[in-house]
Amino acid sequence: MEEIWSADRFTSRIKRILITKEEIDAAVRRLGAAISAEYAGRPVLLVSVLKGAFVFLSDLSRAIAIPCEIGFMCAKSYYDGTVSAGKVTVTMDLDQDVSRYHIIVVEDIIDTGRTLREIVEMLKARRPLSLKVVTLLDKPSRRLVDFQADTALFTIPDSFVVGYGLDCAEHYRNLPYIAEYEECERC
Ligand code: IMP
Ligand code: MG
Repeated sequence: MEEIWSADRFTSRIKRILITKEEIDAAVRRLGAAISAEYAGRPVLLVSVLKGAFVFLSDLSRAIAIPCEIGFMCAKSYYDGTVSAGKVTVTMDLDQDVSRYHIIVVEDIIDTGRTLREIVEMLKARRPLSLKVVTLLDKPSRRLVDFQADTALFTIPDSFVVGYGLDCAEHYRNLPYIAEYEECERC
């Protein structure tokens, strides 16, 4: 069996570290403090679309000093390469009644923007008290639909990245930094 499980093989295709653990930690701490100040005294629900944002959500939630609830969604996207709307199915939905909360959607990366735009439209139709989107990474050069996060911690060039929750064929999510990846033939 090919040994992706060996430590050497694991990192051999990583070209370079783009964002260090320390840079991520500092940015997440600042965002957590800003959210704590802005939403104090209000019911907050952090919403993540699995799986990529699980590390960011986990660290961000612990950098927030006010009470907040956590919710997860799973979505499947179906696109033929050109169509840009109406192709997202929710396979696991939130438990919470969205209309009772200020929603903060926590995303790993906005690439084409298609998945998140659909999810945000879905959530807005449930009439939350307010809705904002925060993303760890933004790749604006790849955008296919008009979609902007309210906060993007890092803007990156058009290259494939792994780590801090982001995967290539389900690997590398556990790297503590964001790295440029050589190729991803299974993505
Ligand atoms: P979208 O194209 O903006 O809809 O992005 C959908 C999803 O693609 C993101 O939430 C990520 O899970 C994944 N994705 C986009 N770019 C990358 C990347 O560079 N590395 C790993 N996953 C990515
Ligand atoms: Mg994602």
